[in-house]
Amino acid sequence: MALDSAVIRRQFPFLQERKHPVYLDSAASAQKPDCVLQAMDTFTRTRYANVHRGLYALSEQATDLFEQSRNTVRTFLRARHADEIVFTKSTTEALNLIARSWGHATLRKGDAVALTILEHHSAIVPWLQLKEEKGIEIVWIGIDDQGNVQREELTRALGKGNVRLVSVTGLSNVLGVRPPVGEIAAEARRAGALVAVDAAQWIGHHPISVRELDCDFLAFSGHKPYGPTGIGALYAKRELLRSMPPFLGGGMMIREVHRNGFTPADAPQKFEAGTPPVTEAVGLKAALEWLEAIGWNDIESHEAHLMRVAFDTLRTIPGLRILGPKTPDGASGCVSFVVEGTHPHDLTDLLGQQGFCLRAGHHCAQPLHERLGIPASVRLSVALYNTEEEIRALGPAIARARSVLSK
Ligand SMILES: Cc1ncc(COP(=O)(O)O)c(C=O)c1O
Repeated sequence: MALDSAVIRRQFPFLQERKHPVYLDSAASAQKPDCVLQAMDTFTRTRYANVHRGLYALSEQATDLFEQSRNTVRTFLRARHADEIVFTKSTTEALNLIARSWGHATLRKGDAVALTILEHHSAIVPWLQLKEEKGIEIVWIGIDDQGNVQREELTRALGKGNVRLVSVTGLSNVLGVRPPVGEIAAEARRAGALVAVDAAQWIGHHPISVRELDCDFLAFSGHKPYGPTGIGALYAKRELLRSMPPFLGGGMMIREVHRNGFTPADAPQKFEAGTPPVTEAVGLKAALEWLEAIGWNDIESHEAHLMRVAFDTLRTIPGLRILGPKTPDGASGCVSFVVEGTHPHDLTDLLGQQGFCLRAGHHCAQPLHERLGIPASVRLSVALYNTEEEIRALGPAIARARSVLSK
């Protein structure tokens, strides 16, 4: 059965406002359905307590809920063990954790980390920081004009024998392309390198199985798959987490502390210093369960349809160039473009005045924009609550914006 977008839309309070904008910026952050807001509200109003500390029932129940959320993430990612899931505040923190903990402890001058040119800054800057600190090498893996990762460049880089980790996005937040992460992970493994997957965009659009991918690390944020901000997660293989040193020091991450030293707790607590985002974990659980209940077939077919409509609409606009994939089946979740004679910021500003929320800029992917030979682009991104009509209405809105700009 196809997804009934009226049923979906009724679940989003944002869309019940009499005059709500057309929200085409879900790649930045998705709107939240009632069930997520209610789960967080009920927890905060009636079940609230800190976790892992209290010996009273309320705290034990909060701890249970928090750990259930970890288990929901485990199931969602098809991980083997709940202790392979570390709660973080975001994808950004999860990717920094890899560099600050594993990278800092393991990498030496002359070791290399391979990054695709598609990566978001949060998968780039932590490694550039380590380059400054330790003299590691960064190897860039390019793309072709449609945004496909140049696999022969990866093979060549891995052949040098010093690549210790490959970091790859599961879905580009600019071009919407999906690199073949499973194949890349297999090739990296054969060359003795680990693989880190940035699933910030992937998580809300397609199913993930870390077991099938056999990746070493995978990071995502709660706010992209319809959950709250302030929470994210890092999946890492159990044996890796056990061998990695803590990232932050403080309460909760220790077994014992004495005046002359400490011993860390086991993973994942070893990486969760301080009070964790308990309410947000409750919201994240609700969001992931909501997505699973809708079902991936319906999610994927609805969004594939929206992407076809987006390509159809954009292609009819004179002077508009779609970046990356030539056809909608090559793009997922978002499509970016430039329009001859207009600056992306001016265009999105004028679209904003007409009630359309789109994003302009380099979308935290400046190396990718340099590769594309442009400073900035406009990005349209879709989610389950978007409709064909909303996207089609963008055509005339862009035409109106251009006529204002040409005056
Ligand atoms: C591909 C990708 N990676 C990482 C991030 C960073 O996510 P966050 O800001 O939630 O840490 C984003 C956010 O847009 C993203 O699109």
